[in-house]
Amino acid sequence: MKIIKVNLKERSYPIYIDYDIIDKIGLYARKKVSTQDKIVIITNPLIGGFYLEKCRIGFEKYGFKTYTIMVPDGEKYKNLDEAVKIYSKLLKIKADRNTTLVALGGGVIGDITGYVAATYLRGIPFIQVPTTLLAQVDSSVGGKVAVNLIEGKNLIGAFYQPILVYIDCNVLNTLAKREICAGMAEVIKYGIIKDRAFFNFIEKNIEKIINLEKKYIEKVVAVSCKIKALVVKNDEKEKGERAILNFGHTIGHALEAETQYKKYIHGEAVAIGMVGAMKLAGGKFFIKKNDTERVVNLLIKAGLPIKINERISISGLLENMKIDKKVSRDIIRFVLTKKIGYVTLNPINDKGLLISVLSELFN
Ligand code: NAD
Ligand code: GLY
Repeated sequence: MKIIKVNLKERSYPIYIDYDIIDKIGLYARKKVSTQDKIVIITNPLIGGFYLEKCRIGFEKYGFKTYTIMVPDGEKYKNLDEAVKIYSKLLKIKADRNTTLVALGGGVIGDITGYVAATYLRGIPFIQVPTTLLAQVDSSVGGKVAVNLIEGKNLIGAFYQPILVYIDCNVLNTLAKREICAGMAEVIKYGIIKDRAFFNFIEKNIEKIINLEKKYIEKVVAVSCKIKALVVKNDEKEKGERAILNFGHTIGHALEAETQYKKYIHGEAVAIGMVGAMKLAGGKFFIKKNDTERVVNLLIKAGLPIKINERISISGLLENMKIDKKVSRDIIRFVLTKKIGYVTLNPINDKGLLISVLSELFN
């Protein structure tokens, strides 16, 4: 088992990574939670169908009493109405401040469970059991929890850390290939922003990784979590460095919004956004052409799109980019790389350059 620590003083927690461990979760939870306290597993019918029983047994055989709350599957249920339904169910089972919530699912389940944990009775503990590659390498670590409003994604939320993250890589075997590829966008992102050797490793082993070969996927998840844990340790509340995790996301988020979240799943939009960021870096400062080609080729090999196929307007994308959280005094700031493995945050007010980069992204 690999164990990575997220060091945040009294809010520190471990990330456990291994294969076939869901049915032992109670053993590890016992280090943080008393067996007298209730465990409430929050999941959806699809994920629950695969893993709820194992997870429930994994707690009960170590002496915990468990309850389950089902949330319908889909991003559209990551909202306040659904959170209110969870609060009511928690009240019905008399969940108190010693009750621990368990998010068994992808980023949607993780985000809403974390949001409920942050707000129910002013905060109760929660455990992340991420079941998508994206959730294992990104959303389950770092404590960003949120629900969506009609006006936009993740607008209501908090920084609220889990008490542990428990990753069973085996669950990826039931995940759709498209979701694996989308998770790979975030994995490739970590190489670009922080670790050139990791980028080289992904490049060399991409087929084995996307075919979920054990040794490779475990390393990919562990290194990604290590990088995220380091960035979060340095800047938990995104006052500075944490923004680098948004490499490719400025264009990516705008693309998701402009296509009404219907055409691209998150990692796909981020992949196109990363191509845009590489081209922008090419226009802003010297970056080896070869680095851009390597990123583009790796994204293609990972089964990700690199071009926009939809008929949307550049002006729409630009308008959307202005509501990015990194905008400061109306100037859009982009995370850009000078060299794979190293990025900086750059204000870009050259509208001509932006328009030319965006137009190159269309098929
Ligand atoms: P998701 O949670 O919607 O899961 C994708 C699909 O896979 C769903 O249909 C789900 O039911 C299914 N699924 C999950 N695990 C499975 C498994 N093991 N086997 C079979 N099917 C499985 O999507 P996601 O990509 O995991 O998460 C996206 C969400 O994460 C978005 O809401 C996004 O805003 C959020 N997010 C949060 C952060 C953060 O830091 N908190 C970071 C990135 C993304
Ligand atoms: N997913 C970006 C972050 O956690 O900051």
